[in-house]
Amino acid sequence: MPTAPLPLEFTPEVAAETAPLRARLARTMPDVEWPVHAPYIAAIRRLARERGAVILAHNYQTPEIFHGVADYVGDSLGLAQRAAASDAEVIVQCGVHFMAETSKILAPEKRVLIPDLEAGCSLAESITGADVRLLRERYPGVPVVTYVNTSADVKAESDICCTSANAVEVVESLGAERVIFLPDEYLGRYVASRTDVDLILWKGHCEVHERFTPEEVRSMRRFDPKLYVLAHPECPPEVLAEADYVGSTSGMIGEIGRSGAARVVLITECSMSDNVAAAHPAVEFVRPCNLCPHMKRNTLSAIRRSLETGSHEVHVDPALAQPARRAIERMLEL
Ligand code: 13P
Ligand code: SF4
Repeated sequence: MPTAPLPLEFTPEVAAETAPLRARLARTMPDVEWPVHAPYIAAIRRLARERGAVILAHNYQTPEIFHGVADYVGDSLGLAQRAAASDAEVIVQCGVHFMAETSKILAPEKRVLIPDLEAGCSLAESITGADVRLLRERYPGVPVVTYVNTSADVKAESDICCTSANAVEVVESLGAERVIFLPDEYLGRYVASRTDVDLILWKGHCEVHERFTPEEVRSMRRFDPKLYVLAHPECPPEVLAEADYVGSTSGMIGEIGRSGAARVVLITECSMSDNVAAAHPAVEFVRPCNLCPHMKRNTLSAIRRSLETGSHEVHVDPALAQPARRAIERMLEL
């Protein structure tokens, strides 16, 4: 049943309701920002309850989304699994378009909403289903492994999907001598360095991770030789060569605790450090900032509008959804 729109004021009731969250965000958000975010957070939580919606947020969302309104947070693989397991009627995907498509493919009976339809991805945009068909013609019989950062039509042309957390395992699971690995060249080169399988690569890049340079990492290390460097495999190989640990966003989060390091730097999208700092009060985070403009299209105001109006519903052509789902499920079965 529709409810009257909430006045977005920082009332004493809103302050009391959001106080536990305020404490969690103490390290990353100045007091002056809280009265702006808190009324949206209270409104979104209420709307989500009323609409039977679950809010999924990628690790790159801003702290007020990640800590404030998400029911589940995680990397691309984790969110896909949550979407598949969820019994909510509506999924609000605070991430980018390919993630919302993945949720819809795995949960076709649910309404999947994305707060901003323009939230794209340079990797997903680097390749089309037609490109994959041409590659198959050029390399007959060679299986295709596709990173989840792709559109549904690319997944539909693929044998199996992978994420940055399981790419080596997926490639090796095929038992093939040669594999077409799409579309992230740098993730592919990282996988190639860890397997004997011969990889045919595509020249797709993440516009955020390709901006990091090895000089940046070296200059941070000069400042503190004990600095623990964690990098995402979408970074160029020369950057990964400087890292102490390479892994997916969730892999990095786990490694911060395991490393026991006092000062760390996450060579990835910059909201990650803000989000994980809350769980590691004793760790100092060095914060070089490369923002993903697509991830940042998700705002509290857009999420609230999405829940109020049902915008923007994500649809996937059933003819593509079926083969795309097979490729994702083969990965999830591993
Ligand atoms: P993961 O969270 O799966 O490591 O992916 C990183 C990324 O760039 C998603 O767009
Ligand atoms: Fe795509 Fe890179 Fe942004 Fe992830 S961080 S959504 S890979 S552009």
